Amino acid sequence: MDHFLSLSALDDATLGRLLARARAAVRRPLGEALRGKVVGLVFQDPSLRTLASTQAAAAQLGGSSFVLQPGRGTWGLEVRDGVVMDGAAAEHVREAVPVLGSYADALGLRAFAGLADLAEDLSEPMLSAFVRYAGRPVINLESAFDHPCQALADWQTLDHFGVPAAGGRFVLSWAWHPKPLPQAVPAAVVAMAARRGMEVTVLRPEGFDLHPSVYARAAAEARRGGGSLTVTADREAALAGAHVLYAKSWAALPAWQDTAADAALRAPLLGDWCVAPEWFANAAPEARFMHCLPVRRNVVVADAVLDGPRSVVLTQAAHRLSAAKAVLTELLAPETAIEAS
Ligand code: CP
Repeated sequence: MDHFLSLSALDDATLGRLLARARAAVRRPLGEALRGKVVGLVFQDPSLRTLASTQAAAAQLGGSSFVLQPGRGTWGLEVRDGVVMDGAAAEHVREAVPVLGSYADALGLRAFAGLADLAEDLSEPMLSAFVRYAGRPVINLESAFDHPCQALADWQTLDHFGVPAAGGRFVLSWAWHPKPLPQAVPAAVVAMAARRGMEVTVLRPEGFDLHPSVYARAAAEARRGGGSLTVTADREAALAGAHVLYAKSWAALPAWQDTAADAALRAPLLGDWCVAPEWFANAAPEARFMHCLPVRRNVVVADAVLDGPRSVVLTQAAHRLSAAKAVLTELLAPETAIEAS
């Protein structure tokens, strides 16, 4: 594995090895696989789990890490070529990224969608620049349209709870949120569940479709993994027999050009798209509630669900640590025996 950018970029053998490493990282004593190694982490956007779990993983494996936040104590980074740099950005990625690559053995990047220019977000310019200039393995710590670290931890969580793969019903539901959010987690988890062989349903109000490329990727993963993909606004039908309800809010596609259009679409949905216990009325008896966190209580999901027995959000978050160890070991110490991870 040269980089960790997307689960969809991995062949079955590599993905299977990552999952095995993640399982082993939970079960077994920690090794020193990363002794002397440094992981450089660049966070263009906020984080709790991704930042803390990646740093903790590096430390527990005997390595170390540094964190930079461009624009906050670190020079703002310019990614466009050929521009006159007379704005806020003081340093170009053409210099900054190879410099960081000369200090670190791997670089991680978090760079959300800007939600201003859809074509630009789809091209993942900052992540692409890191891959081009780092000279080191690059880890996607959430980009505009992917979050493979979350997806790996979520796959591990589904396995952990014995959620069926073939025949398992995975529902990703849009949820209300006061502002438009990127489609990275939705894109990552529907592709993950489809690749796992699950029957995936995207439940969303009219107007809130995921980008066509997200559906196309999930459909391709379903063909590869034996799953399926359905899109609907019918909540009762979507949740009948569901094994997983994964909630997440995301921006309507018009939001990329016009946040007022997004606001107009979401305003009338307030109150009706907060996951409540009744949503599980016809779900499988053992149905689980999932969310990547952070989550707004009683906006995205009711306390009764989040604090109830169906919720596995804390296990998902705990698996971010074992998933991070799996990724770091696979990239920087692939010879490490999985049994000794
Ligand atoms: N789920 C997740 O990526 O959390 P953070 O944004 O806190 O890193």
